Parts: sequence; structure tokens; C-alpha cells
Amino acid sequence: MHFVNWQRDIVISHYNGQKVVIKKNKSIKNLHEHLLVFMFTFMSFILLHPSSPLKTGNSILLNEGLATRQALEKIGIPTPKLLKINQEVIIEEYLEGGNLYSYLKHSEDSSIVQKVGFMTRMMHDNGACFIDNKAQNYLVRGSEVYRTDLGLIQRKSSEFTKSLDIGIFLASLLDLEIEKYRKIEQYFIDGYKMNNQSKYRIPYLSIIVRNIASLVLVSDHLSLAKNLLVKSDIK
Ligand SMILES: Nc1ncnc2c1ncn2[C@@H]1O[C@H](COP(=O)(O)OP(=O)(O)OP(=O)(O)O)[C@@H](O)[C@H]1O
Ligand SMILES: [Mg+2]
Repeated sequence: MHFVNWQRDIVISHYNGQKVVIKKNKSIKNLHEHLLVFMFTFMSFILLHPSSPLKTGNSILLNEGLATRQALEKIGIPTPKLLKINQEVIIEEYLEGGNLYSYLKHSEDSSIVQKVGFMTRMMHDNGACFIDNKAQNYLVRGSEVYRTDLGLIQRKSSEFTKSLDIGIFLASLLDLEIEKYRKIEQYFIDGYKMNNQSKYRIPYLSIIVRNIASLVLVSDHLSLAKNLLVKSDIK
């Protein structure tokens, strides 16, 4: 099987007798990284939160490596087992449940999203953020969720980057059926608040980021237009 993707060629194959995913950088990957950095900086300026540029380049390899995966595991963020990594290729164990976007599209129960809210909060509480936090970067195995595509992790966080994580996650699901989307949003927030109904505030730019990011992240623009008109329950 072969996915056509934005940054990498993804091939499902076998390696040492195990089913794996092989991710190879496309030659235009550097250009894409620069575009992402530009979009990030642009958004930070129009939202009046000027931020230093994202760390990319060598830090991408570091983020995808074993040490980062172990550190994530320690704070409750599981990742697929890494089998090989170098400048050109990453080989990871294959997780059969597919990515979270397609899982949620075909499932009636979206309670699994609580785990994503929790993981995002753990990241933020540990002074880091994901940036590219779309649902397609989470994988499902049984009732567990794993995080893949770790390249853009930043080891510092601010109100703006926390809002990006939340806004980008919600944006990537905003073209699902509205009732389903509403439940997903609620489960995410419950997980992010760690089921604690305290006064903890959701980073305040999250919904603005969600609305801007959804314009580029979703594929069904008709559902998106309908859903954007419905008020969010996030306070
Ligand atoms: N370990 C895995 N097991 C099963 N499927 C996977 C695995 N890793 C990736 N995939 C599938 O491949 C897709 C793309 O993977 P990944 O996000 O790592 O590549 P990418 O090129 O960086 O993506 P993009 O630039 O679009 O975010 C995922 O959304 C998922 O559907
Ligand atoms: Mg990805």
C-alpha cells in the first residue's frame, strides 16, 4: 500500500519479519518545511503574538529519534516502535487501526479523543508543544492512541503555540458531521482539562486558530462552512 502525502512517501512493507511503515523524505521536503515556518510566523503576527521561528532541520531528526520517543512515553504519550532512522528514512512498526481522522469518520464512539486531549495537555504541562497536531498524526490500535509525525515538536510553549495545538487538532476534524464534531470537541476538552471541572481556561486563541487552520486542513468544504457557523462550546 502507498499513501500520497504532503511531506513524505509512506509505504507499508515488511522489515525483519514485521509489518512496518517506511517513511521517506520527498526531495521537496525542505521547501515544505520553510512554507510551514512561514505560515506559523505569519499567523503569529496576524494574531498579535509574534513568535520566534519554528525549529526545523536537524531538530526534526532528533524529534523523531528514540530519546524523544522515550521522553514522550514517560509523560503518557505513546509512539509507534522505531526500527530504523537516518537522514533519508524512518521505519516504524505498523499500527493497524489507521489514523485518528479515518477512525473517527467511521466510528460512532469518539470517546477515544479524551486521550488526545490528555496527551496534548501533558505536552503543554511539560513545556513543549506538537504544532502539527492534526488528527491524521494520531494512530489507533485497539482502544489506544499513539502519536506519530513528531518532527515539528518544539521544546518550548506559549499561549500561542498551545492554542495552535488545540486549534489545529479541532480544525482537522471540522468537516465531520456536526453532532459528531461537537462530541469530539467536548471529549478533547474533557481530556485537556483532565476531567477536572476547575476554572482551568483553554488557551484563548484556540478557536480563532481552529477557524483559520480549517480552511487549509479539511477536504469537505461544504460541511466545514456549515460547521463554522455553529458556535463553539469552548469557554
Ligand atoms: N506507524 C504507522 N502505522 C500505520 N499507519 C501509519 C503509521 N505512520 C503513518 N501512518 C499513516 O501515514 C500517514 C502519514 O504519516 P506521517 O504523518 O508520518 O507522514 P507525513 O508525510 O509527515 O504527513 P503530513 O505531512 O501529511 O503530516 C498517517 O496519517 C497514517 O495514516
Ligand atoms: Mg503527518
